[in-house]
Amino acid sequence: IQPTAHCLQGLKVLISAGPTREPLDPVRYITNRSSGKMGYALANAALQAGADVTLVSGPVALTEPAHIELVKVETAAQMYEAVMSRAPDHAIYIGAAAVADYSPAIMEPEKIKKQKELTTIILHKTKDILADVAKLEKRLFTVGFAAETHDLEAYARDKLKRKKLDMIAANWVGRELGGFDSEQNALHVFWENGEKTLAMMDKTRLAEQLIGLIAERFKGYESL
Ligand code: CTP
Repeated sequence: IQPTAHCLQGLKVLISAGPTREPLDPVRYITNRSSGKMGYALANAALQAGADVTLVSGPVALTEPAHIELVKVETAAQMYEAVMSRAPDHAIYIGAAAVADYSPAIMEPEKIKKQKELTTIILHKTKDILADVAKLEKRLFTVGFAAETHDLEAYARDKLKRKKLDMIAANWVGRELGGFDSEQNALHVFWENGEKTLAMMDKTRLAEQLIGLIAERFKGYESL
């Protein structure tokens, strides 16, 4: 499934990448270890395959890709707006961002002072970007990511069904094997009636393989 130079020719592809950053006060935030490498590699691979690419990115330390429309955001709410406002104009959505599942209910306008020994932070669930893209009236071919520590296939297939996705790319986390914040990764890709394992390799090559697979599945989907 090496992508050909034209397998996404002329298609508009929207990709989210990186972590989000949820502020607690003017100097503190909650985030995660996502480096954005997989999302950026997917954006470059889609561009090589002939797509017109928009990349919505959380804060990362990566070089800005050339010939790609880059939209920089910080919070999950900003990422939601950036993706949802652009999605209807695209054919494919790849949700590679590690969006915070919860965000502080209150952003304190002043720096929080230390007081008691024990303290609590109230968090609100964020809106699910991926599930809402998959619900749009104008259907996009929607690809999600899943990071699992156990029962990978069962959880990934559950997400595929529950969020009504066309494809899900799952990887193991919490093991000493690629994944978050790493140069390499391996993916187990699932769709309704099939699956494919992409072996451990560097994220540039892995992204090319996943784009090849997406292009292949997208063609079948278009002809439905
Ligand atoms: N996602 C999203 N919006 C959110 C949360 C997640 O779009 N608010 C997307 C991610 O971009 C990714 C997928 O959903 O493609 C991950 O699914 P999620 O249900 O968040 O998986 P986990 O974080 O692994 O959650 P859980 O603990 O429920 O397994």
